[in-house]
Amino acid sequence: MVRSLKWTLFTLWTALPALVRGGNATTDVVCQSTFSWMNNGNNQSPCLVAAVLSGVCATAGGWNVPALGPNDAYSTPNSSTANACVCSWAVYNLLGACTVCQGSPDVDNWAPYNAGCGSFAIDTYWPTNYTVPNNTLLPYWASTDPLKWPGGSFNSDNASAIHSQGIALLLPSVEHGSICTFLSRKK
Ligand SMILES: *[C@@H]1O[C@H](CO)[C@@H](O)[C@H](O)[C@H]1NC(C)=O
Ligand SMILES: *[C@@H]1O[C@H](CO)[C@@H](O)[C@H](O)[C@H]1NC(C)=O
Ligand SMILES: *[C@@H]1O[C@H](CO)[C@@H](O)[C@H](O)[C@H]1NC(C)=O
Ligand SMILES: *[C@@H]1O[C@H](CO)[C@@H](O)[C@H](O)[C@H]1NC(C)=O
Repeated sequence: MVRSLKWTLFTLWTALPALVRGGNATTDVVCQSTFSWMNNGNNQSPCLVAAVLSGVCATAGGWNVPALGPNDAYSTPNSSTANACVCSWAVYNLLGACTVCQGSPDVDNWAPYNAGCGSFAIDTYWPTNYTVPNNTLLPYWASTDPLKWPGGSFNSDNASAIHSQGIALLLPSVEHGSICTFLSRKK
């Protein structure tokens, strides 16, 4: 009995680091400075935050959000790339912002993006059973239901209007000791 209890504790503890994966997220994108309002409260670009959040569900390695070439767009999820993180409203919105901040107009529409998610489609801005690395601040606009954007496609003018309300969301993080969502107002 004792032995099996210890084993359970051991597996719980060793499982924890997997939940905070995402520390090796990277991006090659340098956003245009006019879009610096898209950065989160820790001055991380939407491209980096998208990489961090996408990486949380990755079972191995890191996650990179590459820069777009002319006429490129980020691929919609498919059966080999979909997961609960990539399919969140937050990652969709952040990738849309990341597209716009590079000066590209080719933002994915939510409908085909979500359709590519198949059974991973979730109807929330973040799957709460996944915790994120320390201090990953989610800009409030990134929690918007994508169906609410005009035409069902990320809209940076609308996002900017939401941003000017000065609200930031802190995602659930292991280091904060509990799995819940905090709302905080920007100073
Ligand atoms: C899924 O998308 C990736 C990235 O665009 C692509 O490399 C891969 O071939 C696609 N897989 C399927 C099953 O369509
Ligand atoms: C989180 O919940 C989703 C949807 O219910 C499920 O597919 C996924 O396996 C869960 N992941 C973890 C780590 O519990
Ligand atoms: C998380 O926060 C703790 C306490 O503030 C700090 O010691 C640790 O280095 C942080 N980890 C990461 C990956 O930033
Ligand atoms: C988006 O912006 C347009 C134009 O300002 C406005 O009419 C619309 O209500 C906004 N929608 C959201 C969801 O903010």
